[in-house]
Amino acid sequence: MNIPKRYTITSALPYANGPIHIGHLAGAYLPADIYARYLRLQNRDLVFICGSDEHGAPITLRAKQEGVSPQEIVDKYHIQMKETFEKFGISFDIFHRTSAPLHHETAQEFFLDLYKKGAFIEKETEQFYDEEFQQFLADRYIKGVCPKCQNPDAYGDQCEKCGSTINALDLKEPISVLSGKTPVLKKTTHWYLPLDRDEAWLKDWIFKGILDGKEQHDPKLWKKNVMGQVGSWLQDGLQARAITRDLSWGVDVPAEIPNSENKKLYVWLDAPIGYISATKQLALDGKIENWEKYWQDEETALIHFIGKDNIVFHTIIFPSILKAKGSYILPSNVPGNEFMNLEGDKISTSRNWAIWVHELVEEHPSKIDAFRFVLCANIPETKDSEFTWTDFQARVNNELVAAFGNFVNRIMVLNHKYYNGLVPYHEEEFLKIKEECFDIVKDAKQKIGSLIENYKFREALDAFMQVARDANKFLTSKEPWKTAKTKPEETQAVLYASLQIVANLATITQVFMPNAAKSIFNILGIDALQWEDISRLDLLTPGHQLKENHLIFEKIEDDFVQAQIEKLHSTKKIETSKYPKMKEEIQFDDFAKIDIRIGTIVAAKKVEKADKLLELSVDMGFETRTIISGIALHFSPEEVVGKQVQVLVNLAPRKMRGVESQGMILFAEDLEGKLHFVSPQSGLENGSSVS
Ligand code: MF3
Ligand code: ZN
Repeated sequence: MNIPKRYTITSALPYANGPIHIGHLAGAYLPADIYARYLRLQNRDLVFICGSDEHGAPITLRAKQEGVSPQEIVDKYHIQMKETFEKFGISFDIFHRTSAPLHHETAQEFFLDLYKKGAFIEKETEQFYDEEFQQFLADRYIKGVCPKCQNPDAYGDQCEKCGSTINALDLKEPISVLSGKTPVLKKTTHWYLPLDRDEAWLKDWIFKGILDGKEQHDPKLWKKNVMGQVGSWLQDGLQARAITRDLSWGVDVPAEIPNSENKKLYVWLDAPIGYISATKQLALDGKIENWEKYWQDEETALIHFIGKDNIVFHTIIFPSILKAKGSYILPSNVPGNEFMNLEGDKISTSRNWAIWVHELVEEHPSKIDAFRFVLCANIPETKDSEFTWTDFQARVNNELVAAFGNFVNRIMVLNHKYYNGLVPYHEEEFLKIKEECFDIVKDAKQKIGSLIENYKFREALDAFMQVARDANKFLTSKEPWKTAKTKPEETQAVLYASLQIVANLATITQVFMPNAAKSIFNILGIDALQWEDISRLDLLTPGHQLKENHLIFEKIEDDFVQAQIEKLHSTKKIETSKYPKMKEEIQFDDFAKIDIRIGTIVAAKKVEKADKLLELSVDMGFETRTIISGIALHFSPEEVVGKQVQVLVNLAPRKMRGVESQGMILFAEDLEGKLHFVSPQSGLENGSSVS
């Protein structure tokens, strides 16, 4: 493949319905930023595009929860996200927004043009409608019982418990989130994208990299996790997808189109067009000459950085739209990532189990690069990854500080101490160690570069750290602090060489940790270098004056880690809905009436024609009771014999299936509905009482 003439790099537009967390960063923003910084260091022509996704049900739901208008929600989060990304050093050329008039126009122009080209079909279907609120219900506005796993809190598009995609009409016991009532079915007409027509060319394009008979990308360079997901979609066969909705908030279906009143573009159609409108805005701002060449020139590489929940939209749906529109390029790659977990659990906004980036940049501004380092080391490139605070501490202290920070610091200190901060040199001695020193940096430029170009950011970071580790080894073997007096010439050469390595490290680290890079260039007293300067050993000239030294990274103390873990747990929200409701309050006298005793099950058998019941004989010490218990689906008779149990002994006897049941055995039911014995921990005499 030829080197592209220019690049259009996009990161998924985050919904403006809440703050950004570290999982978002690691999945779609940090990798894109590293990639963009790497290309900029080579003066390649590129735009790095993002913005907030300000339409769709997530926004209107949030507005409803907070009791404010959708506009207020998107204004608040657009500003917050934009500032947070900036502070974290995500170097977008523009962070635009889909509520901007320019975006509405762009999206409508797309829609109208496709409509005129006959790219859509029109279909009438029945959809859930809330009579009280007089509106159709978006999938997210319907809750009900998941048809697959019976989770009672599934949404109209997805069950978060079993992860399956749901068709709203298949939900059992559907309820409108707006009124809490059962919705009715009502007819509505929408426009659909007949994706089945695109199947053939999509397969050629994705799997063979061939589009309109021309080689377009190398499928071997597409990530396996992405290919896997696209593959299974294409294998299942594509179906027509509705691309409009009955909604009040969003981009209007153009008025020229008959029957378009009250219809909005589906958010998933309008959002990716947001990449294009953002590029148009960049041109209007005078930052680029024209936007068309970033979207319509075959020599441009379009690259979408996203998380795994967005793969289908960027590999199938958006490309189909671009192709139908004509004259647009399709993505050359869609490096989708998996998800990052936090302290052993899924990151969750509703449970507030997350590290929020807007808090992090406010509370720990000096640690931003440490976060960039650890998040990069944990990018969920091939499978889900995990962030823990203890791992954060270990990586920062044992790798970042110990190898990289320490090397830079030692070299600076020694140079100030021996040479007043003037770069030393001794040619003859330098020639003796040049080879050894060159070995440390000679592959870095090519190796790290090609790892980044292949979206292997974790390995790229590791290759960078390898340079730091080798540099430390070199220093340890030369021990210039011992030779300063005895072999001054050799010491000059070693410290000269080490300074060149420091300059190399700073140059590379511009892509991973831009603040640290800046600090090092500052203490070295030189301007930022370019990617092509890597692997050189003449970056600092003899006699050059170094600036005052200071530490680049701080160690992470135990109390810091402890405090962060505590904060996470103390701010976590418990999902009360999953716990059974509390019963009404009772008085002590009510409780005192209950007589619970310890007994042992001595015999058990199935009750005929009752598949849920077991007939048990329970030794209560003072007598043996017959008890019918509804546990046969949970335990076999063999399993329960010999178990000590708690028995409610003064419950009035009841006849069940012709047998008198004399009491009730207590069980604990877990949140998944599974029964567990509540037996005394060590054996007790039967008949002992529980109170
Ligand atoms: N807002 C969507 C999400 O957060 C992503 C939109 S990506 C875009 O999942 F391509 F549509 F912009
Ligand atoms: Zn389910």
